[in-house]
Amino acid sequence: MILQVTVPSLSVELLLLTTSSHSTGGSVFSHNAVETRNWTEIMNKNLILPALPAPAASTAVERIVKASRRPANLGKVEEGVISLAMGEPDNGTSVDVVDAGIAALRAGHTRYSALTGMPELRDALAASLSEKSGRLIEAQQVVVTHGGSAGLAASILSLIEPGDKVLIPEPTYSLYADHLAMVGAQAVWVPNLPDGTLNLEKLEQEAPQARMVILCNPGNPTGRVYAAGELHALSRILEANPRLLLLADEAYSDIVFDDLPFLSSLQLHSIADQVICCSTFSKTYAMTGWRLGYVVASPEHAAAINLIHRSINGAINTFVQEAGVQALKTPAHDLKSLTDSYQSRRDIVVELLSSVPGVSLLAPQGAFYAFPKIESKLSSEQMVSHFASAGVSVRSGAEFGPSGEGHVRISFATDLQSLTAGLQRLVAAVGAIV
Ligand SMILES: Cc1ncc(COP(=O)(O)O)c(C=O)c1O
Repeated sequence: MILQVTVPSLSVELLLLTTSSHSTGGSVFSHNAVETRNWTEIMNKNLILPALPAPAASTAVERIVKASRRPANLGKVEEGVISLAMGEPDNGTSVDVVDAGIAALRAGHTRYSALTGMPELRDALAASLSEKSGRLIEAQQVVVTHGGSAGLAASILSLIEPGDKVLIPEPTYSLYADHLAMVGAQAVWVPNLPDGTLNLEKLEQEAPQARMVILCNPGNPTGRVYAAGELHALSRILEANPRLLLLADEAYSDIVFDDLPFLSSLQLHSIADQVICCSTFSKTYAMTGWRLGYVVASPEHAAAINLIHRSINGAINTFVQEAGVQALKTPAHDLKSLTDSYQSRRDIVVELLSSVPGVSLLAPQGAFYAFPKIESKLSSEQMVSHFASAGVSVRSGAEFGPSGEGHVRISFATDLQSLTAGLQRLVAAVGAIV
């Protein structure tokens, strides 16, 4: 029986096997039935099976519930509200990629693929990443994952112990803190400097006690692209602390504006064995729903990450990996025109927000988010409610780390008309709160 349990900001599906010893007497549960109950209702009516302690979840769940700032209902938008909240490309997956997935299914490629990932996909990734990084990356260093999220989770679960300190330059993607809470590790927030650069002094100070740094580059939610100088300085900190690992989340590495150079963590050759680079097909190839990502690491780390990943996920969908092989063949000019289209939308956001009293914004250099600071007495969460009642949905800055308080995150991966209308609603509503 599957029991869907809803707790504040978390929805968990618990699989409860109904056996005679777990029977609830005149059972309210029927065999093989899916039942949805409100958590409080279940607790109040004492419907939890007596053999199970209440709440019937591990301490990992408790820790995530306590630490998480992530909204539980991603994607839910009220009628009439324009959503600038989702981190999802507005264009669909390319026809060639869809066709490759369908062709794989029609050809009967419906069986398990290799637990380490399909060899063709790992080879193609290894070849393209070797070229980009200027060093040899072997297929055995590539782990194919269930989206970027599972790559991040498997990296953290396989390399981090409970109690380990993990440094998180922030504001940053909100999932890392949840993964660390799941493991029982300690997130050490390292706020970026006011100009958006890394606080290298603080990172250097904390490094000897820490096991990992998690860096989102280009940044979600800031759109910040860290400069080569900052990354080389960070790599010197790792050289001086050989036990320290760098988990670099490069989900947006293909979306960089103004022809800025992007330095991947895989190009930091002196710390190659300390780098774990996670990425995803979700953003570059508009494949969010396909769930395909990858991790690149030293052969030893890659083996450990793969063991955890396959223990949870098993093999990745065969046809999805075949579509992934096709996605990697996307012509560079197609990727460039997509980036150009995000860049022109970035320009609109910057132009519309730059002259609004009480609003300040560091121009995004990549990804598809803007992270304005709004001088208001309201908290970020209150601002989000205020804007929602004005008809535009954005994300609370506080979700992305302590220094995100006072900010909201705007996604500009939406069509021009919705973007401008949504921004106009936001600008009109700002006046009432600054
Ligand atoms: C920085 C970053 N990393 C990872 C992910 C997760 O990617 P996926 O959807 O492939 O799990 C996201 C998704 O929003 C993201 O913004």
